[in-house]
This record gives sequence, structure tokens and C-alpha cells, in this order.
Amino acid sequence: MAIIAPSLLAADFLQLGNACEMLNKSDAEYFHLDVMDGVFVPNISYGLPIIEQIRKATTKICDVHLMIVEPEKYIAAFKKAGADILTVHQEACPHLHSTLQQIKAQGMKAGVALNPATPVSVLKDVIKDIDLVCIMSVNPGFGGQKFIEHTYDKVRALKQIITEAGASTLIEIDGGVTEHNAAALVQAGADVLVAGTTVFKALDPIQMIATLKTL
Ligand code: DX5
Ligand code: ZN
Repeated sequence: MAIIAPSLLAADFLQLGNACEMLNKSDAEYFHLDVMDGVFVPNISYGLPIIEQIRKATTKICDVHLMIVEPEKYIAAFKKAGADILTVHQEACPHLHSTLQQIKAQGMKAGVALNPATPVSVLKDVIKDIDLVCIMSVNPGFGGQKFIEHTYDKVRALKQIITEAGASTLIEIDGGVTEHNAAALVQAGADVLVAGTTVFKALDPIQMIATLKTL
């Protein structure tokens, strides 16, 4: 069974309290929070004050996905805001090993996200230092995009790297996850499924989360 991480990006921002209440009642384990800076990605989402409020209202693990340049500058700030897992992009971190250690030193789990064009092999030498790898299955920046099929190959290749290293890194898939590809992703080796549109635009989000979880 996969860990489900509904993404706030697809929620009604005037009803964030309702989104938290719904999620608290659901089988989702994580709340996926996308932070965009308009530099690393061509979009701007929300930041620290929103996460701080979400933290107070949710009982779930706050899985914060930073799509920002120089994320190492904000590690302490996101810890203070309530992040449990802090994911940085490999493409934004020239000193990735150091950044991962800094995240862990703050008492958070350390995640690394990879853009669709970045091969999983770049993480070989640091795989044991990573708690979660977020494979982007769309180009980061927007919700509601079409799933990139090459993702399955990346999941299988990453699973092999993790197994060979004897690491316990979780594989998270982010972008275009639906009830139609969830089972195949889990079969390929995915542990965590992020779902924005699929959950928040569903007629019954709680039921959709339960469906994704058991597929
Ligand atoms: C995209 C974000 C995703 C996004 C996924 O840059 O990282 O987390 O919210 O949205 P869906 O599930 O709608 O593709
Ligand atoms: Zn994300």
C-alpha cells in the first residue's frame, strides 16, 4: 500500500481550513506542500506563513517540496514553520551532500527532487543520505499536467540503486498521478504518491485517497 500525499496546490485557497479537516479524516499520511519562487520554476505559489498555519491545522506529516533556488538559505525557516520532510531539487543544489546534512541537523527528513530530464544515477553517491527521492513525473511549476510515461523506467532504476546500496530511501512520484497509473507506479517501486488534482477535484476526496492507497 502506498503512502498518499495530497498536494495543497489543487485545493481551494479560500478554504484551507476545510482542506486540512478533510485530510485529517482521510487515510493520507502526508500533506504535500509546494513552494515555488518564480526563479527555479516559472510560477509562484505560497510560502512560510501558509505552511505555519497548515501545521497548526493538520495532524499529517508536512512534506514540503521546495522548487526554489538556494534552498539551503531557508532550511531553518521551514523547520520553524513546521516541515517534517524537506525536499530540495538536485538541480538547485551544487553542494547537495552538505544541504542534506543541514536538513537532517535540523531534525527533518531530507528529500531530493529530480526534474524529468535529470537521470536518477546522479544520486548514486548520496543515496544513503537521502530519506526520500521525489521523481518529478511532470515539469515542476504547475498542477494538473499530463504524466510523463518515462517515469516508470526511472522508478525501476532508482529502486535498483536503493536496493544495491542497502538504503531505506522512499520513492515519491509527483505530478499527473491518477487512479489509472497509481497501481503501475507502486508495482514499479513507488512508495509515496503525490496527488493534487486527482484528490482535490474529486467529487469525494476522502474516497479518492482511499482508492489511491489500496490500488
Ligand atoms: C508540481 C508540483 C506538484 C503538483 C502536482 O510542480 O510539484 O506537487 O501539485 O499536481 P497534480 O497532482 O495535479 O499533477
Ligand atoms: Zn510537489
